[in-house]
Amino acid sequence: MSTELLRLSGVRKRFGGFVVLNDVSFAVAAGEIVGLVGPNGSGKTTTINVISGLLRDDGGSIVFDGQDVGALPVHRRARLGINRTFQVPKVFRDMSVRENIEVAAHAGRLQPGQVDAILDEIGLARVAGQIAGSLTANQQKLLDLGRALATSPKLLLVDEIGAGLNPAELGAIATLLEKLAARGIAMIVVEHLLDFLNRITERVIVLGAGRMLFEGALEAASREPEVVAAFFGG
Ligand SMILES: Nc1ncnc2c1ncn2[C@@H]1O[C@H](COP(=O)(O)OP(=O)(O)O)[C@@H](O)[C@H]1O
Ligand SMILES: [Mg+2]
Repeated sequence: MSTELLRLSGVRKRFGGFVVLNDVSFAVAAGEIVGLVGPNGSGKTTTINVISGLLRDDGGSIVFDGQDVGALPVHRRARLGINRTFQVPKVFRDMSVRENIEVAAHAGRLQPGQVDAILDEIGLARVAGQIAGSLTANQQKLLDLGRALATSPKLLLVDEIGAGLNPAELGAIATLLEKLAARGIAMIVVEHLLDFLNRITERVIVLGAGRMLFEGALEAASREPEVVAAFFGG
């Protein structure tokens, strides 16, 4: 039995006259990792933005943990357990790694001692005193993830964390995400790297121009003519 954590029903989003999300509907269970794929501009980040509350949807409903959250601002949704990472990591570059986690934790439910546990978990304990701006791209992504973890999320929205990473770094992040899921944290993972996604998910959602083209196993997605057309034009 899986417990439903999130359900989007008929979600729409426009920018002016441009429809970016059109009737997007899917559900995510507690502890489940769902992949979200699609060509550039297909609405993946916008989907994350309307779930996290950074953007307000223009129709449909977003129910999280039994509550309609569609009208709540970001901080209220974060308090309920929705948090995210950014395609370009949002860290405070002039603060230390530890301070970045502490500031995020302050807004959440974390005890001060748990900052060390997060630093260990994301593998940044050894650079905890360093200024975040001096970190590598990979370390900044891990720190962005650590900041999201500091809010004790039930649902983590992960936007292209794998882009630009080498195979060893990707492997480490896949292992970390699997560990978080095993602890019961659900995830929507936006990713272009299909091998990475294949390792951590059993189900993907494919967007094309703001519409859901497919939902199911990744290997089956590549056999869908509509999916192939969206990626390769046709
Ligand atoms: N704030 C915005 N204002 C206007 N158009 C936007 C805005 N954000 C995104 N878009 C457009 O919406 C579409 C979907 O963008 P996005 O969700 O970022 O796609 P993806 O993450 O799949 O690459 C794109 O055509 C993009 O240019
Ligand atoms: Mg994007």
